[in-house]
Amino acid sequence: MNWGMKNRMSRIFNPETGRTLMFAVDHGYFMGPTTGLENITETVDPLLPYADTLMLTRGALRNYIAPEKDTSIIMRVSSGTSILNKNLLHEGLSVSMEESLRMNASAVAFSIMVGAEFERDTLLAFSQLVDEAERYGMPTLAVTAVGKGLDRDARYLSLATRIAGELGARIVKTYYCDNFERVTSTSPVPVVIAGGKKVPEQDALTTAYNAIQAGAAGVDMGRNIFQSESPVAMVQAVRAIVHANATPDEAFEMFNDLK
Ligand code: 5RP
Repeated sequence: MNWGMKNRMSRIFNPETGRTLMFAVDHGYFMGPTTGLENITETVDPLLPYADTLMLTRGALRNYIAPEKDTSIIMRVSSGTSILNKNLLHEGLSVSMEESLRMNASAVAFSIMVGAEFERDTLLAFSQLVDEAERYGMPTLAVTAVGKGLDRDARYLSLATRIAGELGARIVKTYYCDNFERVTSTSPVPVVIAGGKKVPEQDALTTAYNAIQAGAAGVDMGRNIFQSESPVAMVQAVRAIVHANATPDEAFEMFNDLK
């Protein structure tokens, strides 16, 4: 790994724990004004001190995040379809490497669709992104999106995660599932879990805990933080699980105390 790559990775993974709490607020690129993200500045600013990195689009970064904020950025660089399209997540590259570098990104995120009709498009586009990103010391984060009709089980998610790693991803984001060790132990690079749809706080904390115990290097959580009844309490509870090995009970107690 060259110096630039190492430096960017260290701005994502806390060097003291080797783990990360990514705060995902990139939903608008395919979902529009998502509940809780109507005004990203108001949602994100109070939470930034507790997140290791912020995952968002260039438009959100430019319009909602003050450049003086001391946070690392994971730039969403794939798009092309919205929730109104039946081929949701048939994505291609939508932000140039030059733009990501200009906006001082610490990584670029791209969704691949293993097992979908158009998997070839997304895998080849991702591979091209890796080539370019490596040239500039820019980590790539592959998001293993899951199409309709595919089971989010260890067999499928380990396949998708391993393919992402083999194509050159530096970080893979996937979904938590039973037997998650199979996913983490067969990945050549750190794996983080996506938060997914909003569930009760205790359930989200338990999933985060189970993922970390099964070898995840962190979480990339959005709705379960910003749609929580107390986002500032929730982000701190998740942080305790990721960086301080808190149990779900301890983290939930923390959430209740802080909210
Ligand atoms: C979409 C994404 C989102 O960032 C991701 O879904 C994380 O957010 P949430 O925790 O709300 O699911 O990668 O492809």
